[in-house]
Amino acid sequence: MSTVTERILQLKKEKNAVILAHNYTSSDIQDAADYVGDSLGLSIRAAESDADVIVFCGVSFMGETAKILSPEKTVLLPEPEARCAMASMCNAEQIRHARQKNPGAAVVGYVNSTAESKCGMDICCTSSNAVAVVNSLKQKDVIFAPDMNLGAYVASKTDKNIILWDGFCPVHQSITVRQVCALKEMHPGAKILAHPECRPEVLALADGIGSTEKMLAMAGEVDSEDVIILTEVGMRHRLEALHPLKRFHFPIQAVCMTMKMIELESVVNALETFSGEVVLDPNVLKGAYASVKRMIELRD
Ligand code: 13P
Ligand code: SF4
Repeated sequence: MSTVTERILQLKKEKNAVILAHNYTSSDIQDAADYVGDSLGLSIRAAESDADVIVFCGVSFMGETAKILSPEKTVLLPEPEARCAMASMCNAEQIRHARQKNPGAAVVGYVNSTAESKCGMDICCTSSNAVAVVNSLKQKDVIFAPDMNLGAYVASKTDKNIILWDGFCPVHQSITVRQVCALKEMHPGAKILAHPECRPEVLALADGIGSTEKMLAMAGEVDSEDVIILTEVGMRHRLEALHPLKRFHFPIQAVCMTMKMIELESVVNALETFSGEVVLDPNVLKGAYASVKRMIELRD
């Protein structure tokens, strides 16, 4: 065991801390974490944890969501500047405007959004329960923000009228049909699994679509040894551990640079100094709670 890992273990004990990491973080962070998962799984863990301190190895909206669910806990972001590019494509003012333009419509917010925008949303969702969340609403018209690709995917699975936002994840948006066809040509027998943040025309080529956690499960279920994985490359770590007899092929540019900012040393520093603590305005904490709480209650 490396010295830095030993130090993390010691600090976790001293501070009664738990380390949560998203599937896109680097492999050494995943190995140091108590739980690695998708956004829904992580939010549930954060809400249910009895630790005093949550070290959230992920982008800032993830730490904010943990704080909204457990305001009494200390939530630390080892790299507070690690932000999700998609989350910055929607703000509270734009949501107010969208509501005025579409009176009576419900607002469903992807969890990849800021805490301030969550205050204006009726209910949040993650990629794993987006369809269930939209179907749970009584309104026919639903504004879905900020991911237009996940919104279009949900629209294809419900009879609701989905009003799309114009946000997207640059990592998933960079994956093109041409690139998927080239991967398929290199691995003709491969099955294709895709994250719903991908473009609709890319999703049309997929054999399975789901959240990162769902993709990990589907990889074991598909009947091919080669599997093309259309999401962020950090997924390779768990895919290879869970399915050692399979070969996984990624679009090489699918790297979320902000997820990769988080290093073991920053986890040590956060635990030693409590730097990167998530502090939210009490009104924001209160305003965002209901929409996030509803999100974790709908588990598919
Ligand atoms: P999930 O892990 O919930 O599928 O989310 C993917 C993602 O982009 C997180 O930022
Ligand atoms: Fe945001 Fe995309 Fe990175 Fe996920 S992969 S954190 S959606 S920028």
